[in-house]
Amino acid sequence: MALGCDVRLPRSSSHATDSMETISDIKTMQDRCLQARAAGQTIAFVPTMGFLHDGHLSLLQEGRKRADLLVLSIFVNPTQFAPGEDLDCYPRDFERDEALARKAGVDLIFYPTAEMIYPSGYATYVAVEGPLTTTLEGACRATHFRGVTTVVAKLFLIVQPHLALFGRKDFQQLAVISRMTTDLNLPVKIIGMPIVREADGLAMSSRNVYLSPKERQQALSLVASLRQARSVVRAGETEAKTVLASIRQRLVQESELVIDYVKACHAQTLDEVSTVDAETVILLAVRVGKTRLIDNQLLAEEVN
Ligand code: PAF
Repeated sequence: MALGCDVRLPRSSSHATDSMETISDIKTMQDRCLQARAAGQTIAFVPTMGFLHDGHLSLLQEGRKRADLLVLSIFVNPTQFAPGEDLDCYPRDFERDEALARKAGVDLIFYPTAEMIYPSGYATYVAVEGPLTTTLEGACRATHFRGVTTVVAKLFLIVQPHLALFGRKDFQQLAVISRMTTDLNLPVKIIGMPIVREADGLAMSSRNVYLSPKERQQALSLVASLRQARSVVRAGETEAKTVLASIRQRLVQESELVIDYVKACHAQTLDEVSTVDAETVILLAVRVGKTRLIDNQLLAEEVN
């Protein structure tokens, strides 16, 4: 989340094939997907808020490999933003997204308006309850996950995918969506994909465009602190508080950076742990100027 609207747009890029369709109308999209299923096609789905980057493209690439029909949704979902967050200035560039989607082999883009998804009189929400949504991001952004699960449930009902792909950068979001999918018996396989990083290590995010060059430099301390934690664990440290202290120590070297949380949690339950092991994920959220960034590291995994 960024609290300001100072967006730095990257250069746009061009594309290849012509068979891609963009559909905004819900009924048309639903019918198109139901027809594909009836014809025996499998559907891979990548839900996004647009302003695509290489992280999204890695999801599309994997979806392309795994199914007959590749569907991308682009929808900046108002219900997952709290008042004062960056809904109005969230970066948007549909033409650029369309070009990137075409190049990635997307068959259908679902591009609805907010009024279509939440028409007048809309009153139904899907919420995962308990610690999975009240800790970490949920503690900082009280209504965020309810907005995410509501829109993802709606998108699943519209697109009817066999599988849906999400990035592990939003580690808690992936856990919450997996919980919702299991609890509601939705016939969708949820696939979590590795974090994609810039060459200098910064985790890819549409919000990185908010960062000034100086802030971007400071933001590198997120990945640096996670790499440091990995070395501390490799050297034999198992006490979570010692590992977390080393991360905080690295982060506070950047004077303009404000830590929201740094936690060691069990990768499945997201319960906090006091001893770290291969099942542990370190999660952090930091504010750099007006921009809020998150990152994480599964200890079982090499830091990329
Ligand atoms: O991760 C995102 O971009 C969004 O939270 C999602 C899953 C598309 C729901 O709006």
